[in-house]
Amino acid sequence: MDKSKTILDCDTVSLLKEEDALLIIDQTKLPGELRLIRLRTAEEIWEAIYLLQVRGAPAIGVTAALGIYLLAKKAQLPEKDTVENYAVNFEALSREFRKQKVYLESSRPTAVNLSWALCRMECVLMSLKEEQGMTVEKALSVLGCEAEEIREEDIRVCRSIGEYGLSLVGPGDGLLTHCNAGRLATIRYGTATAPMYLGHERGYGFHIYCDETRPLLQGARLTAYELAAAGMDVTLECDNMSASLMKSGKVQAVFVGCDRVAANGDAANKIGTSLLALAAKRYGVPFYVCAPTSTIDMSLSSGDQIPIEQRKPEEVTEMWYAERMAPEGIQVYNPAFDVTESDLISGIVTEYGVARAPYTESLRDIFEKKASEKE
Ligand code: MRU
Repeated sequence: MDKSKTILDCDTVSLLKEEDALLIIDQTKLPGELRLIRLRTAEEIWEAIYLLQVRGAPAIGVTAALGIYLLAKKAQLPEKDTVENYAVNFEALSREFRKQKVYLESSRPTAVNLSWALCRMECVLMSLKEEQGMTVEKALSVLGCEAEEIREEDIRVCRSIGEYGLSLVGPGDGLLTHCNAGRLATIRYGTATAPMYLGHERGYGFHIYCDETRPLLQGARLTAYELAAAGMDVTLECDNMSASLMKSGKVQAVFVGCDRVAANGDAANKIGTSLLALAAKRYGVPFYVCAPTSTIDMSLSSGDQIPIEQRKPEEVTEMWYAERMAPEGIQVYNPAFDVTESDLISGIVTEYGVARAPYTESLRDIFEKKASEKE
């Protein structure tokens, strides 16, 4: 990789059509090394998501959409690809599609964008079943366009979240964020960082504070890195410092991303988010969750139903240390996410506006607005 390139020159996830591969930034190597890797097989895509080489709810969704398209292209057809043989070939294609969908869905449980993107791709495929004059080649081309649209849409959606988020703050504000809900977790702008990127473009002069985000340090390794690369004023702090920071009056708003929002507004995000929300409430700092509608799961009535990923103990005991920092055999509690109850959330910033309590109503209104704009 050319040493003069920065994160701003690279896409988090993209499709290399000629090579039948996905190109991703390997986020496990950041900030030390900006390494791009190619993913070609189902196992490589699954592993990249599981190992957090690509991570962040929207980026996982985009990877799944582009990935399932690539895997569908590799389906073996029983007959020659003609209009006459479409029905029998379509059966083989959809069987392979469903197998790979179940497999990719098993890579991480919490971010709903993963199943959202795969279901959206499946709906498109199913809509082509009875289409007159179809061949598998044509069906695959429609699938490929949908996957690219999911990727492009992410850019528009994040920019819109940025506009709504920016309307909630003022020039010179101190903004605190947790984990990485940035460009690296999306295609551009991020969700929680979108107001920061737009404000930076417009000379707002924000002071950004990043939580380090134990145990995987996404705040230190990724958010601090990408915002500093963009030229922002960034200060890093350990997670356990955010309460004192808020008490000091240096923070005017907290912006976090999320992996899944339930219909009542409860929001699952990186472990530690709910502590931040509790401290924000205590010190009167507005606490905003930034969520594209693809992250809102209206099928779940509350956050208690959100599946929470448990990760390996080594992430806590030894991963970042030159030597192990905990006794051998110690039991470790390592959930990757927690759920912030909706009464701690000042607003949920979506691409269709800012939802406020009561969320059961305001989130429904957001989806109604989305449906009416699509008509
Ligand atoms: O485990 P990760 O790094 O995938 O967790 C990511 C987060 O918690 C993000 O805040 C969330 O996915 C929103 S990304 C816009």
